[in-house]
Amino acid sequence: MRTPLIAANWKMHKTTAQTREFIMEFLPLVKDLSDVEIVIAPPFTSLAVAAKFLKGSNVKLAAQDLFWEDEGAYTGEISGPMLKDVECSYVIVGHSERRQYFAETDETVNRKIGAAQRSGLGVIFCIGETLQEREDGRTLDVLKRQLTEGLRDLSPDGIVIAYEPVWAIGTGRTATPEQAQEAHSFIRQQISEMYGQGVAEGMRILYGGSVKPDNISALMRMPDLDGALVGGASLKPDSFAKIVRYREV
Ligand code: 13P
Repeated sequence: MRTPLIAANWKMHKTTAQTREFIMEFLPLVKDLSDVEIVIAPPFTSLAVAAKFLKGSNVKLAAQDLFWEDEGAYTGEISGPMLKDVECSYVIVGHSERRQYFAETDETVNRKIGAAQRSGLGVIFCIGETLQEREDGRTLDVLKRQLTEGLRDLSPDGIVIAYEPVWAIGTGRTATPEQAQEAHSFIRQQISEMYGQGVAEGMRILYGGSVKPDNISALMRMPDLDGALVGGASLKPDSFAKIVRYREV
């Protein structure tokens, strides 16, 4: 049985005061839940404050990115050991916004995943096709390339995959449960070819892209959907709590 994982990706939102306020409001709404892993990924500047207020709770902390070296002359970058230092359990790697705006490639994503594993961080590894790629019928080829290149020469330790079709991010245009299931089942099959069936059966595959309280339960009914990576709808405590409590919706 795969434990569902629901993660909030706040992107470039919230100051330290807003982070604290969110956590104080959110924790009581989910504190009784033990059958779903809950993760929040605030911006770097809020990680230490979030760690302090999440301590002892059932909510884990993630960063949104990291650099592939552990230390050195890399102005502006943040390393795996630094994220461990502020008590991150996970780091998001390869988000499509990083690929699009910050020129990340399959190769840099691969180096970052390796660095995260070296530091003992869980990795939420994002993949997904653009609208053009879907319309050209290249979705599965793109997913296969992102998976094989991103995980090249790496073990599957600590990896969680997030399938985020780029056309569904921040657009209000969610993939249908069937579209998501088709991609997720293909991803699991690829993981099985890379690492064997046992690893594939145990690996969690999250869906991301316009997940909301009113579409999460239909998505979660799909057999290969093991959770969600939520952007916009994770910024308000009540909305994110409803998503985390999808079994009751
Ligand atoms: P939205 O939920 O705002 O579409 O963002 C999804 C996402 O990119 C999560 O990483």
